Parts: sequence; structure tokens; C-alpha cells
Amino acid sequence: MLKRINSTLCAILITILVTSCGSKSEKTVEEAPSLRNSYAIDFLIGTALNSGQIDEQDSIQSALIAKEFNCYTAENIMKSMHIHPAKDTFNFEAPDKLFALAEKNGAKVHGHTLIWHSQLSRFFYEIKDSTEMVSAMTDHINTIAGRYAGKLISWDVVNEAVEGDGSLRKSVFLDVLGEDYLALSFKLAAVADPEADLYYNDYSMTGEAKRNGVIRMVKKIQESGAKIDGIGMQGHWHLNSPTLAEIETSILEYAALGVKVAITELDIDVLPNPKNVEGADISQRAEISAQNNPYTNGLPDSVSVALAKRYEDIFALFLKHKNVISRVTFWGVNDGDSWKNNFPAAGRTNYPLVFDRDNKGKKAYESLLALKALKE
Ligand code: XIL
Repeated sequence: MLKRINSTLCAILITILVTSCGSKSEKTVEEAPSLRNSYAIDFLIGTALNSGQIDEQDSIQSALIAKEFNCYTAENIMKSMHIHPAKDTFNFEAPDKLFALAEKNGAKVHGHTLIWHSQLSRFFYEIKDSTEMVSAMTDHINTIAGRYAGKLISWDVVNEAVEGDGSLRKSVFLDVLGEDYLALSFKLAAVADPEADLYYNDYSMTGEAKRNGVIRMVKKIQESGAKIDGIGMQGHWHLNSPTLAEIETSILEYAALGVKVAITELDIDVLPNPKNVEGADISQRAEISAQNNPYTNGLPDSVSVALAKRYEDIFALFLKHKNVISRVTFWGVNDGDSWKNNFPAAGRTNYPLVFDRDNKGKKAYESLLALKALKE
């Protein structure tokens, strides 16, 4: 009898323990602070993913990606040289995996990028005739944007078409079609995917001359009757530049065009700038030197603190303008993955993101969570 009571008690106790443990651990998961949860009511928190991350090669990093970000951009695999390497060849295997991963993790996908002079498929360079160019662009945009229509939220339709002085950048598209190629790109994208938000995306978007050039260009696209929904400011920034005032003026001036603003490729370079390379023109190269690569053995605490403050300041600004900001995407997951280790000088040790090389949140990460906790 006693034995039976004992075993019944034991069973009840185990049930209580299991249930409470179960609910406790579920609660812990639900309530674990993350960027995507903390900023859920403000804007999407995105990241750029490389092929290894899309293939989920590192389980610790995969868990971090699922936990922290709710929007993915392909860092490279949806650029024309990869997705459309030859006139009649399209590679959809890797992008399809990105969409599957996003679905699994309850994340959105932003498309990067349809028309860009860099990482451009070779065959575009050979086109000299306007009819042929229109037909190549139509095929490119229809096939790619058409395939993912209804599955992604937005596209960088045109990337980096404006120079620092505000003039239109020389490219094969401008050479063959003149500036009409811009409105044409947006018109084609709207037909291929009527639901997606269509963005113009660029770096150095806070400089006055370039900003005025972008605004002129966007107005012309709007006047042509084409749909343009947003402007992407890449956000490849430094510890002290651009200033918060320059960022704020730019957000407001772009939003005044009646479009959304996204911060699309955010990273903060903490290294001395070789050759004063300000923007993110990937064709610019510089030599690595001891002077421009000072933190090979770790980031000094003072710089970590400065980086955390910089992230906190710019996110405070983004929160102030959250009514016009749709998304803030980091260009990479952790410091080890960042392209900033190789741009503009190859082989440096940079620390531009909020997760370190071991996927641990840095002071900058803590400051972004604390900023939201403070505002609640
Ligand atoms: C970069 C990638 O991060 C690198 O891996 C690649 O080698 C070069 O391109 N502006 C853009 C991005 O729009 O596509 C670029 O990404 C960075 C600058």
C-alpha cells in the first residue's frame, strides 16, 4: 500500500517537474531577447547570408541566424554573375535553398539585385544594340523576379547607378540605353512581381551631391510612371562618419519622395581607412599594412565601447524615424564573415558587426537590446 502511494506520489511529482521544466524551458526560448523580437514592432532586422550559411554548415551559427534575424538577403548568390551566368543559363539551386531556409525560420527574403554594373554576368558586356539590351534585361528580370514573385518582400531593382558627384554612373546599361534603362528596370520588375516593393539601392547615400543626384533620378523614375517603393541606403559606415545629422537629413529627404527607406547593408568599419576609401565601390582596392590593420589580436575595449555607442546612436535615430524605415539589414552575421575583412584591403581583421567571430553578441549587440528595453 505504502509502496503504491509512494509510486503514485512519485509519478505526480515527476509530472509536475516535467511540466514545470517543460513550460519553463519553452518560456525561456520565447523570452530570450533577440534583435528580431526586440525590434519586431519597429522594422525588420535583416542579415546577408553567404552560401555556407544558406547550406546551414555551422549549426551554432544557423541557430543564431534563426534567432536574431527575420529577413535574409543573399550576399552574392542572387547577383547576375551567379544566378544568370550565361544568356541561357540560370542557377536557381542556391537561391531556392535561401527561400526554403527563410520559410523554415519564419523570415522574409529581400532580393539583391537585378540590375547592377558590378558582379555582372559577362554576356551583358557584349551587348551593343538597344533592342538586344531591352530583350536581355526583360528576360533577366522576368525570369528571376518572376520565379520568386509572391515569395519575397522586395527587390533592389537597380544597385549603385549614381556617382559621388550625383551624375549617372557609366555602365553598359547607360551606354546602350541611356538613362531610360532606369525606369525600364522598374517597369519590368513591377510586371514580373507586382507584389514586391521595388527599391533603388546605393552606398554613400549621405553625401549631399550624391543624395541630390539620387533624388533627381528617383523623381524622373516616378515621372515616367514607373513604380518605385523604396530607397536603400547601404550603410557601409565608419565609427565617425557619416555624422548622425547627415544620416538623418538623408532619411528625411528620401522619405519626402513618398517612398520607404531601408538600411540595407549595415556595417561599421573600425579600422583606419586606407587611401580614404569612403564608399563601397567594390572595384576600389588598397594595400594591407600594419598601420591599417592594427587589431589582429583582438579589439581594444575602448574601440568596442565606441562601436557599441555608434550602433546605439544610429539605432536610436532609426527608431526616431521608424515610420519611414522598413528594414535594417546587417551585411553579414558575424565579424569573421564580413566582407570588410577584405575591402578595400584584403586580409585585414575587422570588427564591423554586432556578433563576434564566435557568434557571441558583442557590447554593440547588448547596447541595441538595452536601447529597446529602455524605450519600453
Ligand atoms: C559584396 C559582398 O559582401 C562580397 O562578398 C563580394 O565579394 C563583393 O560584394 N555593395 C553591394 C553588395 O551592393 O552587394 C556588396 O557585397 C558590397 C557593396
